[in-house]
Amino acid sequence: MADIHVSNDPTTDPSTGELIALRPGLKYDAMDGLLMDGVPLAGIADVAGTPTWVYSAATMRARYAALAGAMADAGLDVRIHYAVKANDSLSVLSLFAGQGSGADVVSGGELLKSLRAGVPASRIVYSGVGKSAAELTLALQQDIGQINVESAEELFILSALATAQNRTARVALRVNPDVDAGTNDKITTGRATDKFGIPYADAVTLYATAASLPGIRPVGLATHIGSQILDIAPYRRAFARIASLVVAVRESGHAVEAVDCGGGLGIPYRNEPAPSPAGLAAAMKQAFHNLDVRLAMEPGRWLVGPAGLLLASVVLVKQTPFEPFIVLDAAMNDLVRPAMYDAWHGIVAVSATDALAPARRHSVVGPVCESGDTFARSRTLPALAPGARVAILDAGAYGAAMSSTYNARPLAAEVWVDRNRWSVIRDRQPLEALWERERLPA
Ligand code: LLP
Repeated sequence: MADIHVSNDPTTDPSTGELIALRPGLKYDAMDGLLMDGVPLAGIADVAGTPTWVYSAATMRARYAALAGAMADAGLDVRIHYAVKANDSLSVLSLFAGQGSGADVVSGGELLKSLRAGVPASRIVYSGVGKSAAELTLALQQDIGQINVESAEELFILSALATAQNRTARVALRVNPDVDAGTNDKITTGRATDKFGIPYADAVTLYATAASLPGIRPVGLATHIGSQILDIAPYRRAFARIASLVVAVRESGHAVEAVDCGGGLGIPYRNEPAPSPAGLAAAMKQAFHNLDVRLAMEPGRWLVGPAGLLLASVVLVKQTPFEPFIVLDAAMNDLVRPAMYDAWHGIVAVSATDALAPARRHSVVGPVCESGDTFARSRTLPALAPGARVAILDAGAYGAAMSSTYNARPLAAEVWVDRNRWSVIRDRQPLEALWERERLPA
């Protein structure tokens, strides 16, 4: 038997029934199998093929409303900037724009996609450690709401670019609070040794420098400590550090209008106790309620993760002396999270009959030529015949957005479910597209 990491202990896995009960948009129908918002996923797979991403617009709207509601209930006026990196589909971006969200972008591509989806430039915040001169120029030309500067070096480059264009950039200094968010090492961003943000000890001085530079108007501070954070305590520590900095910067004679509290609120993929938006709101309120700052946040995963799934078909089930391998037509090039972060995603059969069939432990893998192309080990699943469909759950965030064409596998189709109807929002990439921009050397 393969070496199984403790966190993959199958004895604590939720059953199919438990997974579905906790996901309001999903339900089994005895005849039609797994439904998303009333729409049979088998019907989508029949028409659109597999692998295909399927998103619930209703779940995204409900989650946005719940997050905004939790902030309002705490008496906080918080600007929400959806973190585009989680899922940059134009349909997703325009849905959140329609709810009143701004956008948190990290590249010129995300900036242009957000504008194209109808996010007003004034509601766009641009973060990232390595914005190129071309990207900063684009941000200045579009006069976006705020640029979160992550280093002294970047501040000087931005000042020069803004001055040359006769523009003034509204800047927040992204400060590294040196707080360990206690999440996966690869997605922790707020430790002093991480590449992100301005060292905490330099922030007051650099704020004064920013105020003195032409083309720069410092408007506030920003922080972000990581992603898939399942505990409010690190947020409290980071917010307390930023609140002290607001006071210190003001004492040094400069105005601080805004604080961007970052993203990172985690979701339960398996059965982890996850923090609520109300808990985050309380932490924000505790740190900032008497500082008279305009608050903002940039959530990604929490809004879209549970709203999406990856539909796949069983290619074959390979029997071995160990546990059998269920080989899917989806792979790590589609959903890389298990390979990259050892992430656990629920996997359920789409057919109600399959879901009720006797279960045993399987490994669930894709066809890519790497052992890391494994969605699950020792996962209790029913015996599935070739052609059976499965849904890989909670794949709305960092799913399609992180997919690649590794092994010359085309990007999967994307489907939108809204009010009992569904439509394709991105066609499956045609095979020819894999080489159409190539040419042989002269
Ligand atoms: N703001 C900044 C500056 C960020 O770096 C991130 C995520 C967010 C907001 C949104 O964080 P969220 O609310 O989604 O946690 N690919 C990884 C996650 C990488 C997150 C990177 N930064 C994964 O699949 O788990």
